[in-house]
Amino acid sequence: MKRVLSGIQPTSDSFHLGNYLGAVKQWVELQDGHDAFYCIVDLHALTIETDPALLRKRTLASAAQLLALGISPEKSTLFVQSQVPQHNQLGWIMECLTGFGEASRMTQFKDKSSKVGADSSRVGLFTYPMLQAADILLYQAHFVPVGEDQRQHIELTRDLAGRFNSRYGQTFQLPEAYILKTAAKINDIQEPTSKMSKSSGAVAGVIEIMDAPEVNLKKIRSAMTDAGREVKYDMAEKPGISNLLTIHSALSGQTIANLENEFAGKGYGDFKAAVADVVVEYLRPIRAKAMELLEDEKHLLDILHSGSAKARTVAQETIETTYKNLGVVL
Ligand code: TYM
Repeated sequence: MKRVLSGIQPTSDSFHLGNYLGAVKQWVELQDGHDAFYCIVDLHALTIETDPALLRKRTLASAAQLLALGISPEKSTLFVQSQVPQHNQLGWIMECLTGFGEASRMTQFKDKSSKVGADSSRVGLFTYPMLQAADILLYQAHFVPVGEDQRQHIELTRDLAGRFNSRYGQTFQLPEAYILKTAAKINDIQEPTSKMSKSSGAVAGVIEIMDAPEVNLKKIRSAMTDAGREVKYDMAEKPGISNLLTIHSALSGQTIANLENEFAGKGYGDFKAAVADVVVEYLRPIRAKAMELLEDEKHLLDILHSGSAKARTVAQETIETTYKNLGVVL
C-alpha cells in the first residue's frame, strides 16, 4: 500500500472550511487503500507566540475535529508531532542539507516574516519547511494531500530527498504533492481574492467548523459578491461568487455547471441562502460530534498515544537508515 502523510497546525480553536476542503477531506478519502499517517504539528505551531493552556486545548480540539471530520483511528495513524522526537532528529539533518538562499526563497516565510520584519521573525519560522520535510520523509510518504499554499514546501522536500539520496545513497522516498484542481485554494468570503486563513483573515471572512450554525449562516448571507447579477464561475470578474460556487460544489457534490444552471435568472440573495444552507447542514453533525469527543479527554489521549507509538516505530527505522548512510556511529 502506498503511504500518505499530512499535517495540520493546532493554531486556532477551530479549523476552517479551507483546511477541510483543501486538505482534510482528501485525508479522509485517502484512508481507504493507503497507509495513512496524519499529524497534528504542534512543534510547527511554536513558530508564533503561544499560550501553554491554549496550545494544549487546541491540540485536543484538533484531534476531536479530525475524528469528527472522518479520520478513523482504525484506518489511519493519527498522532502528535512532539510525541515523536525523530521529527526533531531528522529536522536538523534537513537544515544541514538546505542552502540559506534556498530557505530564503520560501514564499510562506517571506509573507509571514514581512508582516513583523525580518529582525523580529523567529529562526523557527525560517527553518519551518525543513521540519516539514522531516515530517514527510520520516514516513517514506508517496503522497502528501495539502492545499495549494503548501506546494512549494513539498517541492523543497523532494529536492532535499533527492539531494540526500544522491550524496548518501537511496534513503528517502520522493513524495508527491496531492493537490486537488478544484478546492486547492478556498478564499476568504469577505476578501475573495485572498486565501481563507487562520492567521490573517478577519473573522467575518472565515467559516469555522466549530462556529455555531447561526454564526456561519449570517457570515455566508453577508459574503462579499459584486455588482453583477449572474451566478457564474469567473474568478477574475466574480471572485466572491466563484468562491461560493466552489464551496457549494465541494460540499454538495453538484458540478459548478449544474449550479450555474440551477441559479440562472435568480439573484445573488437566493444563491447565498442556498450556499449557507449546504454549509450549515454539512457542518452541523461534525461540530456536534467534535463537541461530544471533547468531553472525553482520556479517549482522545488514548487515540493519540497509540498513534504516536506506531509513528515512532516507523520513524525510528528511517532515522537508523539515515544515520547509517550518513556515517554516524551506531
Ligand atoms: P496549515 O495548518 O496551515 O493548514 C492545514 C492544511 O489546510 C490547507 N489550507 C487550505 N487549503 C485550501 N484553501 C485554504 N484557504 C487553505 N488554508 C489552509 C493547507 O494547505 C494544509 O494542507 N505547513 C503546513 C502543516 C504541515 C504539513 C507537514 C503539511 C507541517 N508538516 C507535512 C503536510 C505535510 C501548514 O501550515 O498547514
